[in-house]
Amino acid sequence: MTERDRWASRIGLVLAMAGNAIGLGNFLRFPRLAAQYGGGAFLIPYLIALLLLGFPIMWVEWTMGRYGGQYGHSTSPGMFARLWRSPAAKYLGALGIALPLLFTVYYTYIESWTLAYACFSAGGRYMVATPAEARAEIPPAVPGFTAAEVRSMLGARGAGQDSPLSRAQWTGPDTAFTALDANVDGRLDTAELRPVLQPLAGAHTNQFLREYQGVGPPGEHRFFDSLAPALGFWLLTVALNTWIISRGIAGGVEKLAKVAMPLLFLFAVVLVVRVFTWGTPDPSQPDQSVWVGLNFIWQPNFAALADFNVWLAAAGQIFFTLSIGTGAIQCYASYLKPKDDCILTGLTTAATNEFAEVVLGATIAIPIAVATFGLANTQVIAGQGSFDLGFVALPIIFEQMPGGRLFGTLWFALLFFAGVTSSVALCQPLVAFLQETFHMSRRVAALVCGAAMIVLGLPIVLWLKTGYLDQYDFWVGTFGLVVFALIEVVLFAWMYGGENMWHELRRDAEMRVPRVYYYVIRYVVPLLLMVLLGGWCIQSLNDVVLLEGVPRENVPYIWLARATIVLVILAAGLLVLIARRRNRSWPV
Ligand code: TRP
Repeated sequence: MTERDRWASRIGLVLAMAGNAIGLGNFLRFPRLAAQYGGGAFLIPYLIALLLLGFPIMWVEWTMGRYGGQYGHSTSPGMFARLWRSPAAKYLGALGIALPLLFTVYYTYIESWTLAYACFSAGGRYMVATPAEARAEIPPAVPGFTAAEVRSMLGARGAGQDSPLSRAQWTGPDTAFTALDANVDGRLDTAELRPVLQPLAGAHTNQFLREYQGVGPPGEHRFFDSLAPALGFWLLTVALNTWIISRGIAGGVEKLAKVAMPLLFLFAVVLVVRVFTWGTPDPSQPDQSVWVGLNFIWQPNFAALADFNVWLAAAGQIFFTLSIGTGAIQCYASYLKPKDDCILTGLTTAATNEFAEVVLGATIAIPIAVATFGLANTQVIAGQGSFDLGFVALPIIFEQMPGGRLFGTLWFALLFFAGVTSSVALCQPLVAFLQETFHMSRRVAALVCGAAMIVLGLPIVLWLKTGYLDQYDFWVGTFGLVVFALIEVVLFAWMYGGENMWHELRRDAEMRVPRVYYYVIRYVVPLLLMVLLGGWCIQSLNDVVLLEGVPRENVPYIWLARATIVLVILAAGLLVLIARRRNRSWPV
């Protein structure tokens, strides 16, 4: 057996682990959720979820990884089999190979957009409007009303119909009606409602993104005629990931982190400074300023806490941003030395991630969008998803900003560095598993992983508009993480034994964990995870699970996505079965 890969230095380990956690989630997903769920109000459930789920699960994963690494296991099938002496354990562990692979398949595609957009920004590819034209595309903000409120004011008639809405059908206050009725004819027509319900729908950066993704309406194309550029950038991104992984832990992943992470922080700081100097771009609109945006992010609004959806979103974001529940942290931690500290080093990387998220992530996208579009519009744009914020709203700002090409390039390069240090972490479990149990060389294992990413990723690229990717994002990126976390915590804190777990967790630690965490890990975490699973099932039952309101022609694609996810999980189980036959050294 060959010598185990190890982290070459502590700083390299911390940077690689921080790179694993800091990703698109910090700079796109977090700001969008914070804006959508009431700014400062979101931070309260977020911090509670960090303390009650984030830290304990992170420590469990680090410790489990270090423990497994001592026995030569880099991935969860072997680790689970050590913790629970049951033949079933290793099959549960197969999830720790399938989930990160499925995750990286869609994550890498989004990462490739950021690479493409860095190039487009540098070349000014989407900057086709004059600053005045770009400004004219920005809808006027309707002060005081969110899109959801306006939508509910449309009454029984609802949105999306062609006939104008009369005042009698309107269920909201008269002041709102008057504010919206631009041509003062006593009726609201689509042209008057659309900017409120879907700001930026008519912006050229929106058309640019849709055409790049191949989801625009058929017909004349202004920016892209085919999916070729998207496919090209995607293949390049997959190739880059494969190459880095093929160079190993110290030689590939750690070196990447040592270059990409400092650059990422540098770019983020430059952008933060630029945001502050953007200030109040239009002096005649003093409530559209960076300061209003910052205030919104930080001002807690306790009323929002009554909404269970805010709690679900906050807990989901903690999982996503800390990279917990995929098996990727265990894998990185398995390359620790047996006596390395888990508690303090784990906390350091988690804290670095939180700094990147709550300080840097929150200070870029939202304040600059509020300064340019106003608060009400920014909330609507964020409600439409992370991509509208990052790839439609921000480009239009860069377009009007002096030095916008440079800042646009920095923004997307920042996203790309954040993305690539995360996607290599997601590839590592499969690659490590193939190396260890099938005795493949690192290069061959990396090539197998790259090939799997292409085969599984192609439908995502080609069928984006069918909702194929959203299925991955829900079943893998939201639901799957929590299922996996529940399994690992129960195995570690119950099957392996509470006191054993506690001893292993604190072994060689450079910082004391308070004893309450013993109870948190054993009781609170599993309970909360079950509540989360139940909550998501109920919340997503109609649209995501039962596909209500999904266009009929998309349904077959969605089932294909689900079938693929199930097949990949089964295939991972099969690999574990074969591996077990070939490696009698496994405990059970
Ligand atoms: N934390 C990453 C982000 O914020 C996403 C992610 C979730 C991830 N799970 C992971 C990355 C596992 C690497 C490994 O974007």
